[in-house]
Amino acid sequence: MFFSKKTHPIWSTLIIGAGTIAASEVLWYFYNYVHDLLKWQQAQVHEVHMFNELGFECFQEHRAHSQRGKFFTCPNTHCTQRHIERIIELLARAKFSIDLAMYSLNSPEILLALGKALQRNVAIRLIVSQPVVTPINGNIFNLMRAGLKVRSQPFVGLMHHKFCVIDGRTRVDHIWSLKRRSYDPPATYSVVINGSVNWTQGGFGANWENLVITSHHRIASEFQAEFDRMWETFVGSD
Ligand SMILES: *[C@@H]1O[C@H](CO)[C@@H](O)[C@H](O)[C@H]1NC(C)=O
Ligand SMILES: *[C@@H]1O[C@H](CO)[C@@H](O)[C@H](O)[C@H]1NC(C)=O
Ligand SMILES: [Zn+2]
Repeated sequence: MFFSKKTHPIWSTLIIGAGTIAASEVLWYFYNYVHDLLKWQQAQVHEVHMFNELGFECFQEHRAHSQRGKFFTCPNTHCTQRHIERIIELLARAKFSIDLAMYSLNSPEILLALGKALQRNVAIRLIVSQPVVTPINGNIFNLMRAGLKVRSQPFVGLMHHKFCVIDGRTRVDHIWSLKRRSYDPPATYSVVINGSVNWTQGGFGANWENLVITSHHRIASEFQAEFDRMWETFVGSD
């Protein structure tokens, strides 16, 4: 029947119809594949940032200019302000989780960015070296009231890490499983920020430091795993 020279019009209509549906399925599949691939590629970051001897002055100049509502063209090729803005940009992109292990944390810009993320319902866990008891951390108390969870190490020795995992894969999966949705979580892209710098005014201002930002899957998952392990071992307010 199919191969007779004169196919009945109903058959040819059906064949053309089925062919069109199949072709559009393939096209749709292909479109999604390319779309996801491009999004994934865009999300890949591998950056190294340095803090140098000009950092302190550059930081002060930016602050003074912005207080006067003026723009400052910074001559520092390793501009401290730009590095901070980059961290804030990444925090602002967090969809589900921010896990921050930070020896010392009090940068007002960073705390503001964390506060905004809490408002977007991003789950934030913070591990610091010392229990948060000093008045300098008043801002952190405000964030804790807004949902920030904090733990610190109960042992001798320093929690010397200074890293942050944003939307770590296993963490996102866990958060999603608590929501009991029947569909998969939306695409998220893990990023690790790691380096020598404390996220403090002093750390950003006065020292020679480094900061590595990467979306490398294995590096991100290993940092996430260690954060989870420390979180279980350490003690906290929650
Ligand atoms: C930043 O971290 C170092 C350890 O790497 C520590 O010795 C230093 O005191 C910290 N700075 C601040 C301002 O907390
Ligand atoms: C993270 O940063 C610290 C401080 O610069 C460094 O010692 C360590 O090797 C870094 N880890 C990775 C995996 O990049
Ligand atoms: Zn600058």
